Amino acid sequence: MQNLRYVGKNLFIEKLSIKNILKKQKTPFYIYSENQIITNFLKFKNTFKKTNPLICFAAKSNSNLNILKVLGRLGAGADVVSGGELLKALKAGIKAKKIVFSGVGKTEEELKIAINKNILLINCESESEAKLVNSLAKKLRKKVSIGFRLNPNVDAKTHKNISTGKAENKFGLSIKSFKIFLKTINSLKNIKLDALSVHIGSQILNDAPFKKTLSVMSKLIKDLRLNLKFVDLGGGFGINYTNKEKPINLNKYSKLVENFSKKLDCKIIFEPGRSIIGNTGLLISKVQFIKKGANKNFIILDAGMNDFMRPALYDAFHQIIPVSKNSAKSKDKIEFVGPVCESTCKFGIYKNYQKINENDFIAITNVGAYGSSLSSNYNTRPLIAEILINKNKLRYIRKKQNLLKLISS
Ligand code: LLP
Repeated sequence: MQNLRYVGKNLFIEKLSIKNILKKQKTPFYIYSENQIITNFLKFKNTFKKTNPLICFAAKSNSNLNILKVLGRLGAGADVVSGGELLKALKAGIKAKKIVFSGVGKTEEELKIAINKNILLINCESESEAKLVNSLAKKLRKKVSIGFRLNPNVDAKTHKNISTGKAENKFGLSIKSFKIFLKTINSLKNIKLDALSVHIGSQILNDAPFKKTLSVMSKLIKDLRLNLKFVDLGGGFGINYTNKEKPINLNKYSKLVENFSKKLDCKIIFEPGRSIIGNTGLLISKVQFIKKGANKNFIILDAGMNDFMRPALYDAFHQIIPVSKNSAKSKDKIEFVGPVCESTCKFGIYKNYQKINENDFIAITNVGAYGSSLSSNYNTRPLIAEILINKNKLRYIRKKQNLLKLISS
């Protein structure tokens, strides 16, 4: 991120040195750059400016209330996947008419909230869900705008655990089933099919799967002569976690989206998460102990897999950088690990790292997306603090969870 740099030997986020923040704040904690969030959002908006889409931030990537507020103020809507996320988006000031609700297993209770709050779209993922929305809407005497999420059977060429657009994935309805369902949809008087949606996966670094999905959608909408208000093209835009990865170039895709939206005369919706928030956050942690192993040294951090799951869950690589640089090299191979009692509680092996001592501080990078939002109380560890930086201002946007409350049930 542009808002992260070393000044001399010390790591700064915006105008504040982490070393100074550490004088008052105990580790581990998440810290985000507000200006990086703003930059990322405006960059995304600018890429698609000719289409002028509704950008519904995927709240699952980071559902901190204050982060949702920052994005809401920039004009973002929200893509939510639970009643909790829906209520949080509203609490953050995001208008109901900018909220879309995705997910394969929405409950009756969650659907009632969505209907009562008059959100923009409930993106149904099965025939049964659409029928349930219809019957709930009937009871509530409403006509509800729905989208239908399709499974376009496109390979997003990403990690198998975050691929969602292939026939084998549980998400969306196959085109075949959708066509059959369409024949009877008119009998459901309390819903109106206003949109189609797709989301083929996450951390996609190549524009080809997006282009392919767009052509599948275009053909389908034309063939079926659907008259839609919206087409929701989902999220999934990848970011660079290593220097080797090439950033996705969305310029060509944006031209295709522009033509698509003009021809079909519909408003485009996007649901980006990672590309807006991924590179804006760091996880700051302390080296608790160092232990010699058979062929490497274990650098035992105070942050664990409960605080940050991505390496354990997807073997994800997140560069670990020192909070204060030195010029000495450690000769041994080192592995950063956490305290949680699982072998997968580890964050990466390094050679030729700078000399590391107990009580040093490090930063795990690019943890803004699916970092805090995926964290848990595993091992009865409290959720950690979150801090938002804007220039030289620091704001607590989540306090560390209270241990006494945590042990009360
Ligand atoms: N829309 C829908 C319907 C989704 O399911 C998702 C993400 C998004 C939008 C946002 O996708 P993004 O722009 O962030 O790629 N925990 C995993 C990622 C799971 C993504 C789930 N769906 C990870 O840490 O990589």
